[in-house]
Amino acid sequence: MPTHTTPASLLSVLRTQNQERLYDFYRDLRNTDDLFWDRRVGAWVATSHAVVSSTASDPRFSSIRYPDIEAVSEELRPLARVLSQQMLYSDAPDHARLRALLSRAFTPRAVAALRERIFDAVDQIITRAAPTGRLDIVADLARPLPLAVICDLLGVPEEDRSTVSSWSDPVAAAIGNSRLDADESRAASQSMAQMLDYLRGLLLHEGGPPAPHSLRALLATGIDNPDQDFEELLANCALLLIAGHETTTHFIGNAALALLEHPRAAEQLRDQPDLIPAAVEELLRYDSPVQLMLRRARHDLDLAGRSLAAGQPVLLVCGAANRDPEAFPDPDVLDFRRPGGRHVAFGYGPHFCLGAALARLEGVIVLEALLTRLPDWKLVGAAPSWQRSLNFRGLTSLEIAFTPSPDGHPGQPVPE
Ligand code: HEM
Repeated sequence: MPTHTTPASLLSVLRTQNQERLYDFYRDLRNTDDLFWDRRVGAWVATSHAVVSSTASDPRFSSIRYPDIEAVSEELRPLARVLSQQMLYSDAPDHARLRALLSRAFTPRAVAALRERIFDAVDQIITRAAPTGRLDIVADLARPLPLAVICDLLGVPEEDRSTVSSWSDPVAAAIGNSRLDADESRAASQSMAQMLDYLRGLLLHEGGPPAPHSLRALLATGIDNPDQDFEELLANCALLLIAGHETTTHFIGNAALALLEHPRAAEQLRDQPDLIPAAVEELLRYDSPVQLMLRRARHDLDLAGRSLAAGQPVLLVCGAANRDPEAFPDPDVLDFRRPGGRHVAFGYGPHFCLGAALARLEGVIVLEALLTRLPDWKLVGAAPSWQRSLNFRGLTSLEIAFTPSPDGHPGQPVPE
């Protein structure tokens, strides 16, 4: 067992009531010990950029979330079985095979083809809100937009989207909370089963022939391949559905909040819109939607001077790594001119986010629209409240007010 001083548990740090001061707590943890054994969690906790990024890409660690499915509670086991088939929780060679199957749908070029559709969706939302002078950025924009985009990609028709989202929420909640009661576990397993049933019907029977080069066309290749297990393919479609919208929802909410709290930074972007892509990266670093990544030591090994036993889990705290002063001078300052490319908000190494180009594009289009079309936006209502999750950091609502515009502000030309 580790002998060095153990700081406060990550569990207490990530409690909902501590979200306001999250980054202060991370600083304390990192300053005390940037890699420590957390007794309450039963895992190592890494908070420095160097350890987080090196461990995420270190082949001595596994991404398998449930190494012993039989040890998982009966209620959670059906969900654990599905998650274990997903690329996010797989190691080589399964991981590379699954990633290769789906990655062509997410190349920068394939994603760029979605620009106009995303732009139109954002335009509609803001045009609808413009005459009212009010918008809940989370409920009206950050939730429906990424869901619509990923559902478009998978061919989920509009009338089914809210149902699909209602299945996704309990699963995302289960992924984000290590201590689930039996009811929560059962609900998450049932929701996943319903989602898989739905996707099975969608891929096998509905929607007509897929458009060439679309995600559905890629999936059809998988279905036609006798070596490809159909259930595994479904499990990975479910991953896209969940990963494709929960995270981006939180990103849009967190980014908007940061800009509302830093009006000078928002003004800078209005004056210099060419900084918006860099701002998206900086906002991802500044308040990361995914706070934790999990890895497990494959065998006894040394990590940053500590001895880890085979099978021990390591929680890589992306949010803390992204505020590490060793990697980012003045880490608590929002600086759009910061040299980019080093944050770990999308992870690092072989599991680097498959949807990063898509999330970035959504981020750029949303920020452009909010900044140019609602220039006098301001926060209203109760103080922003954070949702309950250990893994994801995101708001439950973010209400703004702005000068109403009866003509609904015609849309700007689609940016190149
Ligand atoms: C701002 C939004 C997003 C953030 C912050 C984010 C974050 C992440 C992170 C941190 C990982 C790595 C997890 C690990 O190594 O354990 C990851 C992986 C992944 N993400 Fe995202 N993500 C976002 C949006 C998306 C979107 C839009 C999609 C899909 C359309 C997506 C699909 C995936 C997939 C499939 C993986 C697994 C990749 C693999 O295992 O090789 N993500 N994401």
